[in-house]
Amino acid sequence: MRRLTFNIFRYQPALPGDKPRVQTFFVDETPGMTLFIALNRIREEQDPSLMFDFVCRAGICGSCGMLVNGRPRLACKTLTETLPKKITLFPLPVFKLIGDLSVDTGTWFRNLSLRTEAWIHTDKEFDPGAQEERMDNETALRIYEAERCIECGCCIAGCATANIHENFLGAAGINRVARFMLDPRDQRNDRQYFEVVGSAEGVFGCVGLMACDDNCPVGLPLQAQLAFVRRKMALAGLKKL
Ligand code: SF4
Ligand code: SF4
Ligand code: FES
Repeated sequence: MRRLTFNIFRYQPALPGDKPRVQTFFVDETPGMTLFIALNRIREEQDPSLMFDFVCRAGICGSCGMLVNGRPRLACKTLTETLPKKITLFPLPVFKLIGDLSVDTGTWFRNLSLRTEAWIHTDKEFDPGAQEERMDNETALRIYEAERCIECGCCIAGCATANIHENFLGAAGINRVARFMLDPRDQRNDRQYFEVVGSAEGVFGCVGLMACDDNCPVGLPLQAQLAFVRRKMALAGLKKL
């Protein structure tokens, strides 16, 4: 059995006089232990003030993203046995720090939804009595694929551009735009999408090193989504000239 050393970032900005620091905890590893379990043990047995987020414990809600030995990971999906004995945990950068390992991804993603106008744009009047509109299977599957984003923020935290430019939409944002571009019910044309994503804050700010694709815990094909949106926006940009 290993004795794990956890070096955990501590700082609660709302606490007067609190200062950023790293605190060390020791935890005896148990079979099948995840970081989520280890953090709960620390909170229950050593320090009840430790802040971190979780809801589902099953890689679904996206709440438990954090930097694990420097890489964005979900705490509930990361087994300690896949890590060395010394584990460093920091909050995800880019997002506003709430305290310790807890960050506010909600405000960031809400802002993303508003900026990308992440809803179907159509002139059609809603008719509750009409039959549902059909769509071919391949299109539906591509939309469902993009919809699998759990808004964990791992792709944003590991993205060089997002760490430098506050307003960069990041892979999650560009994936969101791709989802609506693919949807035949959305009547926005490429010129309108260009206004949303055809800039350095959108797809042209991406340097293409694909950290996002490596870091996405649900395995979204972010590389393909970025290429799809970039191609469409490059053509839309040429047409504007
Ligand atoms: S490929 Fe683009 S979006 Fe993905 S991490 Fe790199 S800069 Fe960010
Ligand atoms: S695209 Fe992947 S890494 Fe990015 S927020 Fe969505 S689920 Fe998380
Ligand atoms: S607790 Fe929901 S994804 Fe980890």
